[in-house]
Amino acid sequence: MKTLITGATGQLGSLVVTHLLNRIPASNIAVSVRTPSKADDLAAKGIDVRHGDFDDLALMTAAFKDIDTALIISGEADNATRIAQHRTAVDAAKAAGVKHLVYTSITDPKADADFTYSAIHLDTENYIKQSGLRYTLLRNSFYADLLMAGVPHALETGDFGAPAGDAKITYIPRNDLAEAAAVVLAIPENHINATYDLTGGKAVTHAEIASYIAAATGKPVSHVDLPAEIHSGILTSLGLPDHLVEALAGLYVGAKKGDYETVSKDIERLLGRPAQSVEAYVKTTLAA
Ligand SMILES: NC(=O)c1ccc[n+]([C@@H]2O[C@H](COP(=O)([O-])OP(=O)(O)OC[C@H]3O[C@@H](n4cnc5c(N)ncnc54)[C@H](OP(=O)(O)O)[C@@H]3O)[C@@H](O)[C@H]2O)c1
Repeated sequence: MKTLITGATGQLGSLVVTHLLNRIPASNIAVSVRTPSKADDLAAKGIDVRHGDFDDLALMTAAFKDIDTALIISGEADNATRIAQHRTAVDAAKAAGVKHLVYTSITDPKADADFTYSAIHLDTENYIKQSGLRYTLLRNSFYADLLMAGVPHALETGDFGAPAGDAKITYIPRNDLAEAAAVVLAIPENHINATYDLTGGKAVTHAEIASYIAAATGKPVSHVDLPAEIHSGILTSLGLPDHLVEALAGLYVGAKKGDYETVSKDIERLLGRPAQSVEAYVKTTLAA
């Protein structure tokens, strides 16, 4: 029984590998990465490192050879490109004889969500279901880790800025999502054709997050409700591609409508414990 993880040189993928190594032998794990030399540490642990790229059907099909269960970690391109890439990955898995696909989706994927990347995940979920393979859909909420990007500026100026208003978002640490994926990959038979809503245990406002940063650092920090165009301008000036700026702007528009405030207990069912709270995550990350 061999399990493969794509994107294993990425942040989520490398954490999934770490958690999976605690559950199954390295000899049962393979990874598909775009740059195999970046995975030398994984090869040294006895993991089967394969070359794969969602842009290349033949390469991806070869990467999936003799794999029973594969985790497809979503990529990072614009919608049209990424939809095509994910479909290629699913086609390759099917052609190679993979039996069970696990996919990192998003909370409540919709075709017309303000968070524009949501449409990618809906398409990929549907394509996986249509493939006829067994599947498990991990509908990940937003990483608490993303919040840390605003901390240096907040500590310098006291302003923790985002166009979030009073939106409540079920942020969750990436590490907990990675462990949930590893739980599924370790015994996929327990999760056939299941869809999990993986959220934090509480939906938090950016004012609350600012208060966590203040408490953790002893500095006065408060949320500044940035106008959307100022926020997008800052992201563009930092060099983010337009499709990402659009998606992040949409995330807050959707969140203000309540799109990402619904808490699910699925993470607790998978991990056997609650996810780390955003408050605890901020405290431990800033103490490190
Ligand atoms: N829920 C959230 O809050 C949130 C936030 C950000 C992103 N995401 C999504 O979740 C994914 C994983 O998050 P992360 O933090 O691990 O992001 P990350 O560190 O940027 O990793 C993305 C991974 O996707 C791989 N990838 C990109 N294009 C690919 C392609 N054409 N073929 C095969 N692999 C490809 C990358 O490969 P390389 O290692 O070769 O670069 C990398 O390993 C992201 O790609 C994105 O779709 C979710």
